[in-house]
Amino acid sequence: MSPFAHITGWGMAVPQRILTNFEISQIVDTSDEKIQELTGIRERHIASEDQSTASLAVDAALKALEMSGLRPESLDLIIVSTSSPEYIFPATACLVQDQIGASKAGAFDLLAACTGFIYALNMASQAIRSGSIQSALVVGSETLSRLVNWKDRNTCILFGDGAGAFVLQASDVPGGILSSVLRSDGSGGDLLSVPGGGSKHPTTLESVEMGLHYVQMNGREVFRFATRVMAQATKEAAAAAGFQIADLALVIPHQANKRIIDAAARGLEIPIERCMINVERYGNTSTASIPIATVEAVESGRLKAGDKIVFVGFGAGLTWGALAVQWSGPILPKRKVYPRSYLFWLRMRSLLLRVVRRMESILWGRDIPRS
Ligand code: UT7
Repeated sequence: MSPFAHITGWGMAVPQRILTNFEISQIVDTSDEKIQELTGIRERHIASEDQSTASLAVDAALKALEMSGLRPESLDLIIVSTSSPEYIFPATACLVQDQIGASKAGAFDLLAACTGFIYALNMASQAIRSGSIQSALVVGSETLSRLVNWKDRNTCILFGDGAGAFVLQASDVPGGILSSVLRSDGSGGDLLSVPGGGSKHPTTLESVEMGLHYVQMNGREVFRFATRVMAQATKEAAAAAGFQIADLALVIPHQANKRIIDAAARGLEIPIERCMINVERYGNTSTASIPIATVEAVESGRLKAGDKIVFVGFGAGLTWGALAVQWSGPILPKRKVYPRSYLFWLRMRSLLLRVVRRMESILWGRDIPRS
């Protein structure tokens, strides 16, 4: 029998700095009342100068590893889902791999915008279910505040920074991630994009003057698309796992706009209380919103072992998707691990690897060593 992929650890990290609607109303022509009316958002967290997509990801990842009792060096795979990576390359996942000391893990970034965490969970769980790996770390991390035009009230009111992480592990106990629905429609790619800085519009003085490096969005069209797909994808994922909508303890949707979540609840004919909502405190943290909402659902007692749930999201691409999950209890023997306590040694290890690489290049110059 193929193993099941269980979520055995979870963690979140958000910057301390909170930006309120009132503060935004000092920058652009808007108001707290209007932002709440349009989106349900009251405030969001914004990364400080010394924080980044990788640093938030590492923080969330360490919490998830502590929770699962899995040592970083036992991880087989790291996927970081993000639309605001540290660099075009190397992948943010490789920075995370180095900083947490996951010495045996493959690592790559996945870009499916706000749906990315669902795509990444599906990829990791399929690798576990096929038997090719035993464990994976999936992180959704964003600092979209760095890509937002703070003069554009259509977008700057929406986004917040943060990260959430899950540890996935193989087990023969039935449960965990049971089905998935992944969809895309690239014909709507222009509705939500950052057009500059890639190979189509490389960064030039002109591209920066035109603001191509900022998030550009047709809000109304994205809104219409989101309300169309959320309920449908939830139903498809639930049916594929053999769940009835009535059996769902919780739907954990992408937190973009309270009105979109309301519409999804109406489409599913479930009371809004069965949807996890925390968009009012974090804004839209893109691919991090689902794991952040999950961590808060567990911590507030709304999500318990054995519960049947669906994660559902949508975003740029266009992309959308849903996963049906039976939330895992403690299914594997847990050891206490303290990955945080050896962060200093991990920095030394990384430094040592760099020094060795430098010495090799001095010793061998440009020659490729022959065996
Ligand atoms: O993860 C995916 C990321 N993107 C999304 O999820 C975006 C989805 N779209 C949305 O959430 C909504 O379209 C918005 C929140 C962006 C806008 O809500 P809307 O209901 O589509 O508003 P609208 O653009 O149709 O504008 C309604 C009114 C307009 O005023 P009038 O013409 O009725 O007088 C706008 O000028 O609200 C005005 N408005 C604002 N007023 C103050 C639009 N944005 C603002 C604002 N502050 N920030």
